[in-house]
Amino acid sequence: MIPTSLDWCRTQDARDPLAPSKDRFDLPEGVIYMDGNSLGVLPKGVGDRIGSVIREEWGRDLIKSWNTADWINLPTRVGAKIAPLVGAKPHEVVMADSTSINIFKVAAAACRMNPGRTRIISEPGNFPTDLYMLQGLADFLGPDYELVTVDRDKITDAIDDKTAAVLLTHVHYVSADMFDMAAVTKAAHAQGALMIWDLSHSTGAVPVALNEAEADFAVGCGYKYLNGGPGAPAFLFVAERHQDKAQQPLTGWFGHRNPFDFVDDYAPAGGIKRMLVGTTGVLAASALDCALDVFSGVDMTLVRQKSQALTDLFIALAHERLARFGVGLATSQNPARRGSHVSLTFEHGYAVMQALIDRGVIGDFRAPNFMRFGFTPLYLGFEDTFRAVEILEEILETETWREERFNQVSAVT
Ligand SMILES: Cc1ncc(COP(=O)(O)O)c(C=O)c1O
Repeated sequence: MIPTSLDWCRTQDARDPLAPSKDRFDLPEGVIYMDGNSLGVLPKGVGDRIGSVIREEWGRDLIKSWNTADWINLPTRVGAKIAPLVGAKPHEVVMADSTSINIFKVAAAACRMNPGRTRIISEPGNFPTDLYMLQGLADFLGPDYELVTVDRDKITDAIDDKTAAVLLTHVHYVSADMFDMAAVTKAAHAQGALMIWDLSHSTGAVPVALNEAEADFAVGCGYKYLNGGPGAPAFLFVAERHQDKAQQPLTGWFGHRNPFDFVDDYAPAGGIKRMLVGTTGVLAASALDCALDVFSGVDMTLVRQKSQALTDLFIALAHERLARFGVGLATSQNPARRGSHVSLTFEHGYAVMQALIDRGVIGDFRAPNFMRFGFTPLYLGFEDTFRAVEILEEILETETWREERFNQVSAVT
């Protein structure tokens, strides 16, 4: 039995080695933020950094800053900062584009490396953009190509000698179910398929070991647990052993061997740089670069331990205090099998979430009936978790969620 008293929560906070890391963030007063899996909190220092990039690097030094402020190498510099969080070597990760675009690039590269194989495997209910981008790629590659979606427990059996690549999201965006990265990668390789991981809900929240698992490619978001800001650039990983063979189709000048030679014919850069496409968005890239500093000196084992403890506590409290209202659990009870968020089900989940946000507890809603709560150990504590469930219980008890204003559906949920 997991203890669920307020006193116990306070004791846990008092002895939490990660508690001081909350000071690294500009969290608004009175807010319990449980949506770091969607948009991370603003780290302190990012505002100043962007201000100085605007005033000094852009405003004063103008175009010289491509060299003097090393803007030109932002993609590889930021990639190298992300690398330790995903178990990769510094030159195997690059910051670029959005996760959607990166999916297209690495999946296309994987298909090209596996000629004669025409199936790409994923799972139904994967994050929509993953499926949409793969559908677009298969259409583009021609009528022989197809995206095949297979339920997660049957995926390893479905991989065959027609499979070019398998793309899965390591931690599922709704259920938080986590794949065994090494086992699935091994099963893909046994059939000659290449393995691509979407790490959007993993990076910065759970330890990831891409090279230990022998993964081929990976992609991930910069604006969730990496706290890079709304629409922050994404990243991608290409295993060192593939870097000279992997050729993505969006052959823009930033991926050229010598972009400033201005020649007519494309020649790919060596290494990870060939995965780049066009000019880096320097403001957004600088924000992510600075945000990543909150991870310096942070032990990801402690992050994982606290994330598991917080999600265990939340699940126990939900069972104790919310189940009687018909609230269900859509996340595994086994801490080893889940990432760092928990989804609860409730028929009127959207309205309940709006009422909760109105009380200062911010999570989000995913159709049709999931209330999603993210646990970012660097700025969320045990008492926060206790209070969040207490307020949720009050909202369900008093049925304030029935108020008209909580039932108006906004464009973004
Ligand atoms: C698993 C996963 N992949 C991709 C994305 C988003 O991709 P993009 O940044 O291109 O919109 C998300 C966003 O929530 C996601 O959860």
